[in-house]
Amino acid sequence: MAPTRSILSVVALTLLVHGSADAVNQNCLKDQFYDQLCPDAERVIQNAVFAELDKNLSNAAAIIRLQFHDCFVGGCEASVLLDGDDTEKSSVSAHLRGFEVVDAAKTAVEAICPGVVSCADVLAYAARDSAIKLNGTGWAVQGGRRDGLVAFSVAAAEEDIPSPDLDVTQLIANFAVKGLSARQMVVLSGSHSSGVGHCDKVVARLYNFSAARPTDPSLDPEYAEELKRRCPNAPVAKSVEVAMDSATPQTLDSDYFLGLTARKGLFASDQALFEDRRTTDIVASLHDGRRFASEFGEAMRAMGAIGVRARGQIRRNCRKVNTW
Ligand code: HEM
Ligand SMILES: *[C@@H]1O[C@H](CO)[C@@H](O)[C@H](O)[C@H]1NC(C)=O
Ligand SMILES: *[C@@H]1O[C@H](CO)[C@@H](O)[C@H](O)[C@H]1NC(C)=O
Ligand SMILES: *[C@@H]1O[C@H](CO)[C@@H](O)[C@H](O)[C@H]1NC(C)=O
Repeated sequence: MAPTRSILSVVALTLLVHGSADAVNQNCLKDQFYDQLCPDAERVIQNAVFAELDKNLSNAAAIIRLQFHDCFVGGCEASVLLDGDDTEKSSVSAHLRGFEVVDAAKTAVEAICPGVVSCADVLAYAARDSAIKLNGTGWAVQGGRRDGLVAFSVAAAEEDIPSPDLDVTQLIANFAVKGLSARQMVVLSGSHSSGVGHCDKVVARLYNFSAARPTDPSLDPEYAEELKRRCPNAPVAKSVEVAMDSATPQTLDSDYFLGLTARKGLFASDQALFEDRRTTDIVASLHDGRRFASEFGEAMRAMGAIGVRARGQIRRNCRKVNTW
């Protein structure tokens, strides 16, 4: 959360434009942004995303998470998509994935309107389209983001991305830095209604919670046993996947919040939302699937407006900065 960030300057050009590229301007975002510039953009992106997800639906959750990581680190400017030795996506323990889906959507839209739709916008549309594929409700996505020119390091990203052992005070503070409320933090955590985590982030809750209680008492005992079977207390646990919402792992729905109330939150940061009196009532109100769906879309729009740049480039290839 500290403002200091180590920056990998990509090209000398960076020095020249860094100041202006950092200028934050949410007013550049608009609904139907491409209606004049490239009327088929949203449809072409959606078709490409759907085609990719028809091959492998497991990437849908991954894409929604990519937009979160994009927006929380340096603003929504597609830095998470940049390849490199020490860039946000290179963190092994973060397990970011789904980049091929974004590439496919970008390639499809470049074919009809070259150099028009930014990678940050492609990711924002793709996240909405992924939510639809997870049987969720869509939302109107604003366009107009410019792509950033710098990739952040793994260490810099870790300062902005919340870790799964944070408590509610820390989670609220982490989102407040980005201009999001406690309620929006809880609503967006509902993304954990689909997708997977890895056992390395859970084993401490199962085997090493405290000297007196090896297993986190906020876990439902049966669920804790199920997790112990899935996540053995051994080095192999690092790479074992576990569904974040064991009830309906491939749907974006309010089962995540029902699960928290049943004490089946996978990470400490999930379960804390039910345990803490500041957020218990929010969790309960989101048991209502229609309410969750509408608030989720609103919160994704707010998240998608973090640190948006009025200037910057429209990358041709989402994995690297244009150098000419
Ligand atoms: C509230 C604080 C949050 C924490 C502490 C957190 C933490 C995590 C962790 C540790 C993982 C699993 C990584 C792994 O081991 O593979 C994960 C996965 C995921 N997160 Fe979060 N997250 C948070 C908020 C969010 C938000 C705001 C979104 C989206 C708007 C999101 C979407 C996802 C999705 C969809 C996955 C599954 C990805 C996949 O299947 O590949 N998370 N999160
Ligand atoms: C789907 O993609 C994930 C990684 O994103 C991979 O682990 C899994 O094996 C893929 N499934 C299929 C059927 O290709
Ligand atoms: C998808 O959503 C509809 C209503 O929104 C619901 O009736 C249906 O059961 C859901 N399907 C799954 C697999 O959750
Ligand atoms: C268990 O937790 C303690 C205190 O947090 C820590 O010092 C220790 O390294 C942990 N043990 C294992 C095996 O992770």
